[in-house]
Amino acid sequence: MSLHPPTATDESIRFAYWVPNVSGGLVVSKIPQRTGWDAPYNRRLAQIAEEAGFDYALTQIRFTAGYGAEYQHESVAFSQDLLSATTKLKVIAALLPGPWNPTLAAKQIATISHLSEGRIAINLISGWFSGEFRAIGEPWLDHDERYRRSEEFIRALRGIWTQDDFTFRGDFYRYTNYTLKPKPVDPQPEIFQGGSSRAARDMAARVSDWYFTNGDTPEGIRAQVDDLREKARANRRSVKVGVNAFVIARDTEEEARAVLQEIIDQADPDAVKAFGHEVKNAGKASPEGEGNWAKSTFADLVQYNDGFKTNLIGTPDQIAERIVALKEAGVDLALLAFLHFQEEVAYFGAHIIPRVRALEAQRGRRAQAA
Ligand SMILES: Cc1cc2nc3c(=O)[nH]c(=O)nc-3n(C[C@H](O)[C@H](O)[C@H](O)COP(=O)(O)O)c2cc1C
Repeated sequence: MSLHPPTATDESIRFAYWVPNVSGGLVVSKIPQRTGWDAPYNRRLAQIAEEAGFDYALTQIRFTAGYGAEYQHESVAFSQDLLSATTKLKVIAALLPGPWNPTLAAKQIATISHLSEGRIAINLISGWFSGEFRAIGEPWLDHDERYRRSEEFIRALRGIWTQDDFTFRGDFYRYTNYTLKPKPVDPQPEIFQGGSSRAARDMAARVSDWYFTNGDTPEGIRAQVDDLREKARANRRSVKVGVNAFVIARDTEEEARAVLQEIIDQADPDAVKAFGHEVKNAGKASPEGEGNWAKSTFADLVQYNDGFKTNLIGTPDQIAERIVALKEAGVDLALLAFLHFQEEVAYFGAHIIPRVRALEAQRGRRAQAA
């Protein structure tokens, strides 16, 4: 296969990486990791990623940890730092309603949009960690109420960003003739959201640009995509889809599987169990009992967002094939985590993205011929 395929087109699947702005990397394991959570490590990583062909970086928001991940840098400030260290990469900052309200978010993100010439986006978090909310004195709402608040948050944010004299009467947020100046640069910052429950899809179909979901098989993703698309169509909207995956690329599948086994064998059982206990407040607490982590096993929980389930574990050829299968299931963006981020992001850019682009071009030609 040619390793000099065409560059990305509008139809190409896009790549994002999880910013390790939290200690311990993206696995709840004591396996040695060369990933750092500090600013110098992350600036360098952002530069490597944009060179490697990544379009987005996603920062995380956490205020406490009861399950490893002891230290956490704040997402918006950290995102701005990465934007000033790069020139092409878009950075998605996570916002948690409660600590943030739309007023602060609209102002902060509008300023960063000017500072970065439009490279900032947001990821609206609806909340799953009740212990965190209790610790910081924030009321803990029921599952679907959290999404009702998030939806109002997004409606208010879009209103403030696009209208003068913005007036809004919600149950959670209220505005009267509010005019923000300056507004963000055009195009408006993209709005991502995380979560896999029915409430998450209902909200995405109504107000979000992107639906981020936990790791899953192409079949599991397709079921979510079908539901989301039907709901979005009913609202005359379209929503893009991003899926989490933990990548282990090695020369042979056996080597990659051995690394996975080692990560799981060295998992910190107390931290994994504490995490498993807390995530019961996510999808499982919804009326349907479905959503993020509703069916996760101990091994799944070793990666925070079920990233082993997506199975990007094997040789570069196998991984590229599986990414194209995700795309065919309706995925627009693969959100990736790695054990040793700097080295493995560079490797992904050199060995996997070119294979994905070549496969995409090949399938595009086949579809045209057919
Ligand atoms: C890709 C992705 C990123 C997320 N990032 C964060 C985060 O930074 N901080 C956080 O507290 N929750 C984060 N979440 C959690 C979600 O916002 C949500 O609260 C959780 O997945 C429960 O969703 P569900 O009940 O709809 O399944 C993330 C979820 C996904 C899928």
